[in-house]
Amino acid sequence: MKIKSAEFLMSNSNVIKAPKDRIPEYAFIGRSNVGKSSLINMLMERKDLAKISGKPGKTQLINHFKINDEWFLVDLPGYGYAQISKKKRTIFQYFIENYFKEREQLVCTFVLIDSRHDPQKIDIEFMHFLGENQIPFCLVFTKADKLGNSKLDQQIASYKKKLLSSWETLPVTFLTSSATKLGRKEFLDFIDGVNQDVAKDFK
Ligand code: GTP
Ligand code: MG
Repeated sequence: MKIKSAEFLMSNSNVIKAPKDRIPEYAFIGRSNVGKSSLINMLMERKDLAKISGKPGKTQLINHFKINDEWFLVDLPGYGYAQISKKKRTIFQYFIENYFKEREQLVCTFVLIDSRHDPQKIDIEFMHFLGENQIPFCLVFTKADKLGNSKLDQQIASYKKKLLSSWETLPVTFLTSSATKLGRKEFLDFIDGVNQDVAKDFK
């Protein structure tokens, strides 16, 4: 798929205020600092479309981008960021959960995992939340450039093995690096395919 346009539309904390267009939507979620905003910029080949930071907790709202005038891409805040207050965390959980439960246009969620990390409870729990709510998701391993090839293969194989202890099948997975653009074509081709599959539901 060719990216002809990528436009930031709005940030908000309530799904009710999200754009109303009936077009397919894709959300990016994962632990804080995993590289959600960087991946969006890499896919769109835009440096500052989504805001990036070395410090966790940069993205704090639901951010809508409209791509090729045909689909939405959504940058979400990271979960598992210990530095925020308990009150703020509760509010955050509420608005993110609400987003996933209410957003009818959502056709696929990308759960991002840092390739260097072993399975973490918070990610596994989040995937179960998606499963329980019948929200389709893919797994995206990020920051692949930070590991050598054999270590990378080993990490991903052990991650998948762990998932298979509680899921019957594995989700579609992608291996990406925002630094080297690894995985860009596969990712965009996948979205293109889903857009075509769901087109009839959005007429
Ligand atoms: P929050 O908005 O805080 O939840 O974080 P995020 O998941 O959006 O992460 P963000 O894209 O802001 O990236 C966090 C840090 O990781 C930044 O310093 C990025 O430059 C770095 N980073 C992200 N992706 C990659 C990658 O593929 N390779 C390398 N080497 N660094 C990356
Ligand atoms: Mg971010």
